[in-house]
Amino acid sequence: MQSGDNEKTDREVREILDYYKELPERGSQEVIVSMLRELQDVCGWIGPSVLEEAAQTAGVKESLIEIIMKRYPSLKKSPYVHEITVCTGQNCASRDNLKLLQELRQRLKIGGDGISQDGRIRVKKIVDFEPTLTKGS
Ligand code: FES
Repeated sequence: MQSGDNEKTDREVREILDYYKELPERGSQEVIVSMLRELQDVCGWIGPSVLEEAAQTAGVKESLIEIIMKRYPSLKKSPYVHEITVCTGQNCASRDNLKLLQELRQRLKIGGDGISQDGRIRVKKIVDFEPTLTKGS
């Protein structure tokens, strides 16, 4: 990123934080999520320094921001580019998906946060992809 891009990003981040700091309900989950989404739109992800500033702006602890981010998987704590989702539900596990998950974790050197060593890939484990069937009218 060029320095002009950094200055523009910093200015936009500051504008977002200044806006949310003035909101009376700045500490509510809904407002925090909106703020984080806007910050992510500008930065591409929510890095440690942005997370810290977001917590200060909202008047909450960083741990609360982290909990909220876990609830909203679209909010990224890492600038990964790709996400691989592996289902380990009963049907898929019988198709060797557990082995596949283990192999992916080893080959990509996935850390405890689900992110590869090079930071480009996130491996996410879910329990069931199956869509919910709804009754037609
Ligand atoms: S168990 Fe994996 S999609 Fe249903």
